Amino acid sequence: MKVAVPLERDAVESRVAASPETVKKLKGLGLDVVIETGAGVKSRMPDQEYVAAGATIAATTAEAVGDADIVLKVRRPTPDEAKGYKSGAIVIAIMDPWGQKEALDAMAAAGVSAFAMEFMPRITRAQVMDVLSSQANLAGYQAVIDAAGTYDRAMPMMMTAAGTVPAARVFVMGAGVAGLQAIATARRLGAVVTATDVRPAAKEQVESLGAKFVAVEDEEFKQAETAAGYAKPMSAEYQAKQAALVAEHVKKQDIVITTALIPGRPAPRLISASMVASMKPGSVLIDLAVERGGNVEGAVAGETVTTDNGVRIVGNLNVAGRIAASASALYAKNLVAFLEIFFDKKDKSFKPNWDDELIKATLITKDGAIVHPSLQS
Ligand code: NAI
Repeated sequence: MKVAVPLERDAVESRVAASPETVKKLKGLGLDVVIETGAGVKSRMPDQEYVAAGATIAATTAEAVGDADIVLKVRRPTPDEAKGYKSGAIVIAIMDPWGQKEALDAMAAAGVSAFAMEFMPRITRAQVMDVLSSQANLAGYQAVIDAAGTYDRAMPMMMTAAGTVPAARVFVMGAGVAGLQAIATARRLGAVVTATDVRPAAKEQVESLGAKFVAVEDEEFKQAETAAGYAKPMSAEYQAKQAALVAEHVKKQDIVITTALIPGRPAPRLISASMVASMKPGSVLIDLAVERGGNVEGAVAGETVTTDNGVRIVGNLNVAGRIAASASALYAKNLVAFLEIFFDKKDKSFKPNWDDELIKATLITKDGAIVHPSLQS
C-alpha cells in the first residue's frame, strides 16, 4: 500500500504531514511512502532526509497522490486536490469542515474516506492522536514568543547597576491547552502572570503554574463546564460582570494573550475597544482566536494593528505553523498513531474496523457520501 504526503498548497501553511521519523514508522507498518518534493522544506525537513528514512520523492502532487491508498495532509484538500485522489483512498487532515460544503462534496464525489483529525474524542486512548492539543500547545508557546518579540521592553525583572527593569505583566485569557502553555512560557521568561477562564477546573491548573487566577466565581461559573470539559457560552449577565473585572485588570497589563474558544461557535469577544484604549502605549495583545472571529475588538486576521494610543494587536494566522518544525514533528506523530489503528499489529495487514469509536468519530466522507452526523445539512 502506498502513502502519499503532498506539499501543502495554502500559502500560510508551513507544516507538513510526515517527518523523516514518521516515515520510518510508516515503513514499519509495511507501507511505501511517497513525499512530494519540497513538502517538508518550510518545516526544515529536506527531501534527502525523507529519502534516508526510506521514502521516495515525487516531482508533482499528481505523481504523489494519483495512485495512493492513503493521503496525509495538514489542511483540508481543495476540490481540485480531491479530484486527483484515487477512489477509496483514505485522506487524513485537519478538515475544518464547517461551512465547507463544496470541499466536502468534492471529497465525497472523489469516493475517498476522509477523516477530520480535530474530531478525535478527547479520551485517554486517543491522547496520542490529539492534534488540537499538540498544535494548541505550541501555539500557546509561540504566542508568548511573538509577544516578547513585539514588546519593546524586557520580560523579566532585571536589577542592574543602571537601575531596575520591572517584570512584564502578562494576562492570559482562556486557560485551555494553549493558554496553559502560554502561562508556563511567560513564567519561564520571568513575567508576572495572571489568567482567567470560565471553567472552574482551570483555576487550580492556573495556580499550579504559579499564575494568579482572576475571574468572577459565582454560581454560573461553578456550572460552566460541559461533560466533555469544554466551556459553555456564558449569560449576558455573567459576561457583563466578568467584563467589568477584566476592564480594571487589563488597564494594568503589558501583554494580553487571548485563547478563548467555544467549540462550533464564534470566539467570545473578551476585550473591547475601550479596554484596548485603556492600555499603556507599547502594550501588546496577541489574539490566538483571530481566525475564529477574534477575542479582541479591532484584531485583524493576518495583521498587526497599531491603535491610536500605541497598543499593538497581533492577529497572526496559523500560529502553530510559525513554529513549523516542532508543529510538523508532533502533528506527523499524531497521524501515525491514528493510522496504526487501521492495521493489524501482528501481521501488519490493513484491517480497518469501521466500528472503532475513533474511526467513527472522525470519518466525514465515505462511499460517495458525507457521513458525519454533525455535517448533515
Ligand atoms: P478550547 O480551545 O476550546 O478553548 C480554550 C479555552 O478558552 C478553554 O479553556 C475555555 O474554557 C476558554 N474559554 C471559553 N470561553 C471563555 C470566556 N468567555 N472567558 C474565558 N475563557 C473562555 O479548549 P482546549 O484548550 O481545547 O481545552 C478545553 C478542555 O479540554 C480543557 O479542560 C483541557 O484540559 C481539556 N482537554 C482534555 C484532553 C484529554 O485528553 N482528556 C486533551 C486536551 C484538552
